[in-house]
Amino acid sequence: MARIVVLSDIHLSPTHGFFWENWCVAREFADGAKADAVIVNGDLAINGPDSDAEIAFAATALGNLRARVMALPGNHDVGDEPPGQDPDQIINADRLARWDGSFATDRWVLDAGDWRLVGVNAQLFGSGLAREQSQDQWLDEQLSAAGRPTALFLHKPVFLEGPIDDVLSPSCMVPSARARLLDRLDRSDVRLIVSGHLHQHRDRTFGGQRHLWVPAVAFAAAQARGGDGRCGVTVLDFSQNNVEVTIERPRELVSHDLAAIKGHGRYQFLRDMPPSPPPHAG
Ligand SMILES: [Fe+2]
Ligand SMILES: [Fe+2]
Repeated sequence: MARIVVLSDIHLSPTHGFFWENWCVAREFADGAKADAVIVNGDLAINGPDSDAEIAFAATALGNLRARVMALPGNHDVGDEPPGQDPDQIINADRLARWDGSFATDRWVLDAGDWRLVGVNAQLFGSGLAREQSQDQWLDEQLSAAGRPTALFLHKPVFLEGPIDDVLSPSCMVPSARARLLDRLDRSDVRLIVSGHLHQHRDRTFGGQRHLWVPAVAFAAAQARGGDGRCGVTVLDFSQNNVEVTIERPRELVSHDLAAIKGHGRYQFLRDMPPSPPPHAG
């Protein structure tokens, strides 16, 4: 038996501290959960693609968690794969280097009881960067060597409604990369795929693969995709052939309304807003 806590979409910033209190609630929950590890599944920052300070701030915050921490980048950390939701923040080598400077790696393997957990950088899929190819090769090696039930963690969902969707949307992986990844997964023993990004909890199984969308820590879903958009934290208890999923919503966790924070259209991005640093951050 192994317990993993998943915190996703924490969206921290030293200058725009709207979600700092939610982070403190999530951190306290994780510290008390007797977890073997905490996975932080992307969107650690708000303006990570253009700010050294934000990525460093998120790294410091994660360093204060009691358990071992495994972090993965999201579009708010290293930028989006093209075409992306913001043409000014497309993933590139400099943005990856900034992440590497604070987190050392954007992909990892972790054993949890009888399961193997594999974390990848979702933003590389469809990016055309050299690191996309090396990650593909690495993933092939990890999946063929696993020899046990495997769970894949990545920031973005692989698809929205179904594996054969050809929808091009910044809400999920681009179709060309998706087809290649699903082909890989079908040849492996990947039973669980855990993603964030859409800020909602949804749990659906397609074929032998369970696609779990975990809720955000920072703010509620802006758009319903068939899930529960309230903020939350996720507990995964891995046993021999099974994984038990529990979504916890500590009372103090506030499901912030992003549109209201941005003044209902007054600001396009949170980073454009006047500074509002977190209280007592550290
Ligand atoms: Fe997010
Ligand atoms: Fe995201």
